[in-house]
Amino acid sequence: MEDLESLDGVGSAIATKLRTAGYTTIEAVAVTPPLEIMEKTNLGFNTVLKIQESARKMISADFKTAQEYYERRKSMRRCTTGCKKLDEILGGGIETQALTELIGEYGSGKTQICMMLSITAQLPYDKGGLEGRVAFIDTEGTFMPERVYQIASSMGLDPKDAAGNIFVARAYNSSHQCLLIDRLFMLCPENNIKLVVVDSMISHFRGEYIGRENLSDRQQKLNQYLHKLIRLSEAYNLAVVVTNQVQSNPASFFGGDPNRPAGGNIMAHACTHRVYLRKGSKGVRVARIIDSPYLPEREAYFMINEKGIVDAEVDK
Ligand SMILES: Nc1ncnc2c1ncn2[C@@H]1O[C@H](COP(=O)(O)OP(=O)(O)OP(=O)(O)O)[C@@H](O)[C@H]1O
Ligand SMILES: [Mg+2]
Repeated sequence: MEDLESLDGVGSAIATKLRTAGYTTIEAVAVTPPLEIMEKTNLGFNTVLKIQESARKMISADFKTAQEYYERRKSMRRCTTGCKKLDEILGGGIETQALTELIGEYGSGKTQICMMLSITAQLPYDKGGLEGRVAFIDTEGTFMPERVYQIASSMGLDPKDAAGNIFVARAYNSSHQCLLIDRLFMLCPENNIKLVVVDSMISHFRGEYIGRENLSDRQQKLNQYLHKLIRLSEAYNLAVVVTNQVQSNPASFFGGDPNRPAGGNIMAHACTHRVYLRKGSKGVRVARIIDSPYLPEREAYFMINEKGIVDAEVDK
């Protein structure tokens, strides 16, 4: 990766300012809104624009032909969930360069899928992995290292190695969560991180911004951070998975299900693929693609056991 100093108009002083503010790579400089860089570095508007123009040229983030775009999409990879049926409805697994949202009520399996992916992401490409490490932002204190050990061992991996490749941060409130998301722009390229999990994206926001009068503030912040995650996924060809809760909706959702995803339109628009999870009978769980630019709306059945996420024995 090239040095920041190779950008037009960047000498060692400006490079230091950028690095101190968390913009350690040319990609990060290229994809961040100019106002944000200005605020964090105290550099002037024209200086920032000039630096960004040069950064974009270097990573060729300018108009591209659809053909070039297609070629870039070919570098997109998929990560297995461990469950064939679930992978199938996801078009082969969780995508890089995209944001996948797992929605569901308590106990529907969101955190379990995230922990499973934290291990499968480390696998070689030919085993369905991303050959990378993982950053896991845990807002609810439900990330369990013991579970990582259990799943990794049952896959025949060294659990110590697997756990050593997962960077976990507990986010204590929404502004801490935002700070951690900012940190990812440095952490990911430096550590070959190929999967970022935010579990849950929304719980702190829901807990802190209460009442109608705070809703637009909340949504604006949420939007800003979801878009950061999208930029991160594109800049570093990594997969981002966020979880979301459901809220009860008296005016019924999806043919009789009384729940709908929290976070409103902001969440719906920012996430590339939305997967709705619910508990079925006899330990079977159901995943359904509810909103995706090209995946059809389909359902898959899965189970959670000591091995992690597996295909359901009874396929219905
Ligand atoms: N080792 C295990 N073996 C079998 N099942 C397990 C194991 N660990 C967890 N589970 C199952 O996973 C469920 C919890 O799922 P999970 O924590 O992913 O829910 P969630 O969707 O994240 O819920 P919440 O909204 O509360 O965070 C438990 O109810 C249990 O049935
Ligand atoms: Mg959970």
